[in-house]
Amino acid sequence: MRLVFFGPPGSGKGTQAIRLAQKTGLPHISLGDMLRLEISQQTEIGKQIKSFMDAGKLVPDSITIELTKARIQQPDCKNGFIIDGFPRSLAQADAFDRMLKDLKIDIDHVVYFQIPVDLVIERLCGRVSCPKCGAVFHLKYNPPKKAGVCDRCSSELAQRTDDNETSIRTRFEVYEDQTKPLLERYKNSGQLATLDAGQLIDDVFKDLLKLVGYGGN
Ligand code: AP5
Repeated sequence: MRLVFFGPPGSGKGTQAIRLAQKTGLPHISLGDMLRLEISQQTEIGKQIKSFMDAGKLVPDSITIELTKARIQQPDCKNGFIIDGFPRSLAQADAFDRMLKDLKIDIDHVVYFQIPVDLVIERLCGRVSCPKCGAVFHLKYNPPKKAGVCDRCSSELAQRTDDNETSIRTRFEVYEDQTKPLLERYKNSGQLATLDAGQLIDDVFKDLLKLVGYGGN
């Protein structure tokens, strides 16, 4: 099964992708996590993209396209994957189509996380995540068992540097201008599957399993 998770910042794509990956064994490919890793490892790419990410802008297509292309050809993606955060622009969608054609594979569903904006802002303001293993928590809706400590790897939790008011506003503008127009393309292709992402985490997950044909449990 090959899935693309699509939706505004904070709609819960990462949270649900991690759960679905645990349930199905499919790899979770998060472009945001891959880019943050480049920054934390201070690679050449990391140095080029930090200012884009902190400001909430898209990093250059040349970087995201190459990273995605290399990642989906790894052996663990042979039987499928969950891509979260790509494509986010027309140029990326075109490049993605070419990639899929070259590799002779298809996407089963583009899952659209539909959610009102006010809910998303509350979610982003309360998010804390683990810089080491990528686990995501929310201070109110999904708190860690011990305050400030990751349930999975016991590292110290942190707020993302782009979860501040200015950057959140820019990320929404970028989503509206560059990413949301892709909805029409995927609707027309018959691949779009819409999820009510405004529900509780467990309820979104139940709907997601049904939507991708993985039972209702
Ligand atoms: P990325 O890391 O992908 O950020 P994003 O798209 O802004 O998405 P988020 O991670 O903010 O939200 P999410 O939908 O995953 O929500 P989450 O599950 O965490 O990208 C960051 C940056 O990288 C971009 O701004 C850009 O610079 C760059 N980038 C990435 N991809 C790129 C690309 N293709 N091209 C160019 N640049 C790219 O949930 C949010 C919070 O809500 C959490 O606290 C969670 O616990 C909580 N929560 C989740 N679900 C629920 C629920 N149902 N009820 C209550 N709380 C919930």
